[in-house]
Order: sequence, then C-alpha cells, then structure tokens
Amino acid sequence: MLDIQGLSKLYPVSDGESAPMRALRGWARHQPRPAPKLHAVDDVSFTIGTGESVGLVGESGCGKSTLVSLITRLIEPSAGTILFEGKDIAAINTRAFARTPERGAIQVVFQDPHDSLNPRHSAFDAIAEPLRRLKKRSTAECRPRVAELARDVGFPEELLDRLPHQLSGGQKARVNIARALAPEPRLLVLDEPTSALDVSVQAVILKLLDDLRTRLGISYLFVSHDLNVVRLLCDRVIVMYLGRIVETGTAEQVFEQAAHPYTRALISAIPRTIEESPVERIHLPGDPRSPVNPDPNVCRFYGRCPRGVDLCQESEPRLLSMAPEHSAACHFAEEVQESALAQG
Ligand SMILES: Nc1ncnc2c1ncn2[C@@H]1O[C@H](COP(=O)(O)OP(=O)(O)OP(=O)(O)O)[C@@H](O)[C@H]1O
Ligand SMILES: [Mg+2]
Repeated sequence: MLDIQGLSKLYPVSDGESAPMRALRGWARHQPRPAPKLHAVDDVSFTIGTGESVGLVGESGCGKSTLVSLITRLIEPSAGTILFEGKDIAAINTRAFARTPERGAIQVVFQDPHDSLNPRHSAFDAIAEPLRRLKKRSTAECRPRVAELARDVGFPEELLDRLPHQLSGGQKARVNIARALAPEPRLLVLDEPTSALDVSVQAVILKLLDDLRTRLGISYLFVSHDLNVVRLLCDRVIVMYLGRIVETGTAEQVFEQAAHPYTRALISAIPRTIEESPVERIHLPGDPRSPVNPDPNVCRFYGRCPRGVDLCQESEPRLLSMAPEHSAACHFAEEVQESALAQG
C-alpha cells in the first residue's frame, strides 16, 4: 500500500555567522561553505501493507512528526518517493495534493484533540467537514453518515450539536477519530493520538482504535512514545533516532530480539509488572548529537551508545538485514542481539 524510498526532509538553518565575523573571514567569505541543514528525516525507507499496523517510535525530536507531515503531504520532501498504491504522491505538490483522490485515502489524527478541533464548530460540523470538502456533500446528505460515524467511534449522537468546550477529552478524541474516518481512508496516520488524554481514557481510546482497524481493515501508522502501546497495537515496529531508521522488524523481533543498542535502551525503560522478570535499565548519557549537518562518517548514536568504539566514529552503519523483515543499523547488531536473547 505504502512504499517509501529514500525520503528526506532537510531544513535550512542559519549558520550563525555575524557580519563582523564574515568581514574577518575576508577573501574567504566568497568561498562556498556547506549550507547548514537540519536533517529532520534523513534517507528513510519502509513499507506498510494493506491492513497492517506499523508503530513508529523514538525520542522527542527524532523526526516522527516530520515523517507524518511528509506522508500526509502537508510539507514538501527534500528527496525521496512516497508510493501510495503505486502512485508517487511525493511528486505532487502539497496544494495539488489537496485535490487528488489520495487526499481522502490518507487521513491523520493529531496529538492533541483539544487543539485540533475548531472551538466554534460543533461535533457534527467537525465530522461533516471532510465530507463536505472532499466528497462535496450537503449538510443534509452528511447527516446519516455522521450519525453512523458517531456510532462507530462510540460518540453519543445526542451530543453532536455540542461545541468542543462542552465535551470531555475522551469525547473530543472520538470526534477527531470519526472526522479522520469520514472520507473512508485506507491509511490512518496517528501521531501520538492519546498522549494528551488521562491514562484511563487512553486505554479506552486505544481499544477503540484497535477494534476499528479490525472492523474496517485499514492500515495504521501509529506514532507513539509508549512502547507498550505499540507492542499491543502494532504488527511491525520502526525505531527512529536522529532522523534515521535504526531498527525495524515485527513487534516480536523488535521486543524480543532487539539488535540495536538504542532499541535495547528504549525497551529497558518500559515499566514492568511485578510478575515480569526485571531488566536492567540502560541509561543513555548526554544528549543526542546535533541534527545539523551530521557527519556522514559517524554513527548518529555515537557518544550515547554504551558500545561505541573507534569504528563507530569512522563509518556510519547502514541498515542491514538480520532476518526476514528484521533490520538494524549497528556494527555490532549480532552481538547486541545475542546479549538481548541471553538476558531474555
Ligand atoms: N518547520 C521546521 N523548521 C525547522 N526545523 C524543524 C521544523 N519542524 C521540525 N523541525 C526539527 O526537526 C526535528 C524533528 O522534529 P519532529 O517534530 O519531527 O520530531 P518528533 O520525533 O515528532 O518529536 P516529538 O516526539 O517531540 O513530537 C527536530 O530537530 C525539530 O527541531
Ligand atoms: Mg512529534
């Protein structure tokens, strides 16, 4: 369904050189200097199958939301292709994309249900809006479909006239999901859909999302900080670090046989129940490397990686296959995996 190859988004940033510094550089100021670019998403490739649920994890700033904005065509890529059902939607500019049939087929649910609803639009208007805009339906024509969508997501029909401030967080989340489902998408992109909700409401909404996927047979790209959620909801997992995919595999492969030290650290930080065997928590020292003009010869995880050796600053590891569907980008992937298996 979705086949992404070599996708990148680089943002130009100021090089911070003041006018006096430029003058001091004298003759050299006309010499070309590499323009500084922030590598938000850097040469990313992956696929999502029909009806498949893929989780995307990684710490703040690793490029998850940028990737979401690229796939939903809200921003222009710097390079790469996004084949959606065989058509390269990356080649269509963002304005023109709004008029293509794919616009309805790929829908997104954003992080904060409070922010993403217009305060002056009722729940009905919020759900009907994509039907009016994408399917050119009149308000009267929308009514039966909006009622059906409200039922699908468990939103009380008698509350459809209410404004967002008259709804609870969970109800707003349901409106947001109904709105995304309105144009009958085949791919639903969920960017931390429950992180702004109370823990008890989170569980209910996650269950709803899981049921909807089974019932409607749509594909999910599920972005989350919470690895437990990804484990429950996703068939496959992608782990990102500083704009790059560092590991990808089935949920079982990533959680049971992690082959990248960063994935190991993420897994070690998952809260465990008393019955589960304790795992030694791996602390990552320091901050991530700068995403601006990263050195192409140094592993992006170098400096924080518990295993970092000279080789890691001499050549950046590529994403290599460990097993069918399982790949990791670490010079020591096999050793990391062996120790993961040994620890259980
Ligand atoms: N419009 C922009 N202009 C410049 N840099 C940007 C822009 N949007 C994002 N970035 C940078 O790109 C990188 C990735 O940001 P992104 O929002 O995709 O991260 P994220 O993984 O979604 O983080 P979080 O978990 O906090 O939501 C960050 O370094 C961020 O500062
Ligand atoms: Mg984000």
